[in-house]
Amino acid sequence: MNEISHKRTDIRRGHGSAERPVTAELWARESQVKSKAMLEGGNYEPTHQQVDYTRYFSPEFARQEQPKLFAKTWQLACREEDIPNVGDRVPVDIGALSFFVIRSAPDEFRAFYNACLHRGTKLCRKAGAGEEIRCPYHAWEWSVNGALKRIPSHWDFTSVTPRNGALPQVRLGRWGGFIFINADQDAPPLEDVLSVIPSHFADFAPERRYTKARFRKLLPANWKIAQEAFQESYHVVGTHPEGLPFNGDAQAQYDIYKTTYGHIGRQIVPSAVPSMHAAPAATSFEAAMASAMLAKSWHYPEFPLPELDPAGDLRAQLGAWMRAAYAAAYQRETTQPDSAMIDSTLYFMFPNFAIWLSELIPFVYNFTPHESDPEKSYFEVRLLMPCVEGAPRPAAAPCIEIGIAETIMEKAPEFGFLAIIFDQDMGNMPLIQSGIKAAAPSRNHSTLGAYQEMIIQHWHETLDEYLAA
Ligand code: FES
Ligand SMILES: [Fe+2]
Repeated sequence: MNEISHKRTDIRRGHGSAERPVTAELWARESQVKSKAMLEGGNYEPTHQQVDYTRYFSPEFARQEQPKLFAKTWQLACREEDIPNVGDRVPVDIGALSFFVIRSAPDEFRAFYNACLHRGTKLCRKAGAGEEIRCPYHAWEWSVNGALKRIPSHWDFTSVTPRNGALPQVRLGRWGGFIFINADQDAPPLEDVLSVIPSHFADFAPERRYTKARFRKLLPANWKIAQEAFQESYHVVGTHPEGLPFNGDAQAQYDIYKTTYGHIGRQIVPSAVPSMHAAPAATSFEAAMASAMLAKSWHYPEFPLPELDPAGDLRAQLGAWMRAAYAAAYQRETTQPDSAMIDSTLYFMFPNFAIWLSELIPFVYNFTPHESDPEKSYFEVRLLMPCVEGAPRPAAAPCIEIGIAETIMEKAPEFGFLAIIFDQDMGNMPLIQSGIKAAAPSRNHSTLGAYQEMIIQHWHETLDEYLAA
């Protein structure tokens, strides 16, 4: 990692106690399996504690984000398993920008602007397949690699040659089974922007996983408001208080890894430990049992619950049990540390992609703007489960579209108890979007926590840099 180091000395990094330690202490004091990558902390702390509300609803601000942010950054397009056969394709809509990605050979993918060269018709409206790319309007045709194939009445278009008739491409990058695209030919390579993510996720191995469930929900809030609902665990006490007995939200660790081109935010919420906000009677033993029951009910129904010894090292016992359950379920051992098995660690890649390093909740998030309304956005979630060793890769789940007034629980119950938690988060969206517009003129900005909301701070700092460029 390049050394852009800026660490503040005046902020307090979480709030814990002897029985409910902050993440770093929890990891240091226990005999758990440790991961060097996980122990590598961030190198940067921002100072941007006020964010002007206008940027969450101004049409002018949203218009600028299109060419200056979304057309210049790496954007999640799809997973490789979404388009398993040559010719399979999916549209990638990011606000008014639209592209499509196609598998052009068994191990080759291409990304194109989603507009016909004749009169601009969208070439890919929904996921599809075929031997060519064919415009629905006048039937111009291209090969799956973008080469011009056929124009009806070609005699009438003498200026169109194979050279200028090929579909314009955008850049495409791959990591861990994910396909990202970037419309800026001069943008830094995907690897530089992913920064620490590939090394931290080496054992988690996203390339050996598949999309078991997936939804995309339309939200009545700006895409930044939606993403910010996940960039801190400070809201657990207000929004998900039932999680306090077994999640150390106040003891969470936040890191920012800032390099020349990369902006990664990380949030680690320890599980199997009560929150500092939980009632005094809550114990780590009950919290550890709750984690085990959650893991069993959702991922390991066949595996017997552990018999945890309350006098012993609870995290070491829980981590060992989770690795054994994992090995039985997926037919392969895992060397992942206790932190990956037990805690909830979420990595954000600027500007709108996030992935959990967590066997309990292995989700991937993507937040995209609405095509025309800055006060709406899309929240897409994938459940990225490990493939069973030796078995064929299961087909990727199709995307369930969830409307603005529908709940995730009713439309995507395969997300289990997390669907209820998502719906709690979603309930805040219209309140935030309308509340910021009702703010007193003297307080038309947010007041962010120095530590717990540092990812939000850094995202706005970085957004400002992109808009000023
Ligand atoms: S607009 Fe595509 S063929 Fe006419
Ligand atoms: Fe939440």
